[in-house]
Amino acid sequence: MTVQECKQQFIEIYGGSMDDLRVFASPGRVNLIGEHTDYNGGFVFPAALSMRTTIVARKRTDNVVRLAATDLPDRVTLDLSDLSQYKDLKWGDYQAGVLDEMAKAGYTLVGCDLLYDDTTPHGGGLSSSAAIEVATALLAATFSHEANGITEPVDMVEMAKIGQKAENNYVGVNCGIMDQFASAMGKENHAIFLDCKDLSYQLVPIQMAGYKLVIANTNKKRGLADSKYNERRAECEKGLAQLQTALPDKSCLGVISAEEFEANRHLISDETVCKRVTHVIYEDERVKASVRALTDGDLAEFGRLMTQSHASLRDLYEVTGVELDTLQEAAMQVEGVLGSRMTGAGFGGCTVSLVAEDRVEQFIRECGKTYEEKIGYSASFYVSEIGDGGREICDM
Ligand code: GLA
Repeated sequence: MTVQECKQQFIEIYGGSMDDLRVFASPGRVNLIGEHTDYNGGFVFPAALSMRTTIVARKRTDNVVRLAATDLPDRVTLDLSDLSQYKDLKWGDYQAGVLDEMAKAGYTLVGCDLLYDDTTPHGGGLSSSAAIEVATALLAATFSHEANGITEPVDMVEMAKIGQKAENNYVGVNCGIMDQFASAMGKENHAIFLDCKDLSYQLVPIQMAGYKLVIANTNKKRGLADSKYNERRAECEKGLAQLQTALPDKSCLGVISAEEFEANRHLISDETVCKRVTHVIYEDERVKASVRALTDGDLAEFGRLMTQSHASLRDLYEVTGVELDTLQEAAMQVEGVLGSRMTGAGFGGCTVSLVAEDRVEQFIRECGKTYEEKIGYSASFYVSEIGDGGREICDM
C-alpha cells in the first residue's frame, strides 16, 4: 500500500481528517553473512530492505493505544497503565512489549491510534518483527520527546536495544541485536558491518556491478523455530563455559580466534556443542573476509564465502532443513550464481543468492520449479533493494 492509501484506510477505521496524521517506517533486513554470531558477541553483516513496516499514527489525549493493521481483521486496545497483560496476544504483543520497555526506560508514553502496514512477509526470516518493534519504538520516543519539549533526534541505537529487549523479555525469544540494529540503522545501498560485542559498526557500500541479491522464501511455517533458537543459544553458552576453563579472560565466543579455539577445542566434551562452536568461530572469520571481498569488489570470493556459510549452518549448526537446502542447492545449479545461503535464524525462512543481473528471471523460474517439485508448494522470490533504516516520513 502507498502511504496515501494507508492514511485513507486509517480514516476509514478511526475517522477524523488527515491533517494530524504522522507516518513512521522501519524496514526488514537481509543478513548477507554472519549467522548466529550476534548473540555470541561476533560480527554480522546485514542490510536494511525496502520492505518495511509503515505506521500511520494520531495522538490521543488519554492513556490508550489502539492498534489496527491493513492486512488483519484484529483490533487491539492497549491500556498504557498496565502493559503487562498483553503477552498472549496473537497480534499486538510486539507493540505492547516495546511500549512496556519504553516505560521502563523512562519514556513518557502518549496515547495514540495506530495503523500498521507491513510489506515484509510475516514469519519469513526477513525480520518483520524487528521492523514492527523499531517503528513502534521510534514513534513512541518521538511522541515522548514532544511531550517533554526535547528537540534532539531520537537515538536509533537505543530504539534497536528496546526492540530487542521487548522480544527477549515480553515475547520470549532470546534473540540477538542484529535484526533491530539493521532495521534502525540501515542506509540505502549499504550493508552494516556490526561488531555485536560493543555495537561499533561501519557502513559498507554495496556495489554489485552486474549482480543482484535475490531473496527466496521457502514459505515454510516456522513452528518450533523459537525453542530451537533458544536451544542453540544455550549450546553456545555451554561451549563457551568449557573453553573458559583454559581461556578465563574470554567473555564471549566472538573474542576467541580460530587459533585459540583449535588449541582448546578438546575441552568441549559434547560433540554437538563442539559443532555449534566451530560454526560460530569460523562464521565470524567469514564475515571479516566478506567485508574485505566486497570492499575490493571481489564478488566471486564473496559468493564462495556465502556458500561456505550455508554449508556450515547445515552441517555444524543444523538450522537449515530440507526446504532451505533444496532452495540453496537449486540456486547453485543456475548459471551465473556466485553464491547462495540461508539468511536469518533458519528452520525455514529465506535464502539470499548473488545472481548475475541477466540471469535473474531464469534463476526465479528454475529454482521455483525445482523447489515446487521437491517440496510440494511454491517459493516466493524478491529482488531486494537495500533501503534506509527507521525514520519519520514527513514529505507526504
Ligand atoms: C534471528 C535473530 C538474530 C540472529 C539471527 C541469526 O534473526 O533475531 O538476532 O541471531 O536469527 O543470525
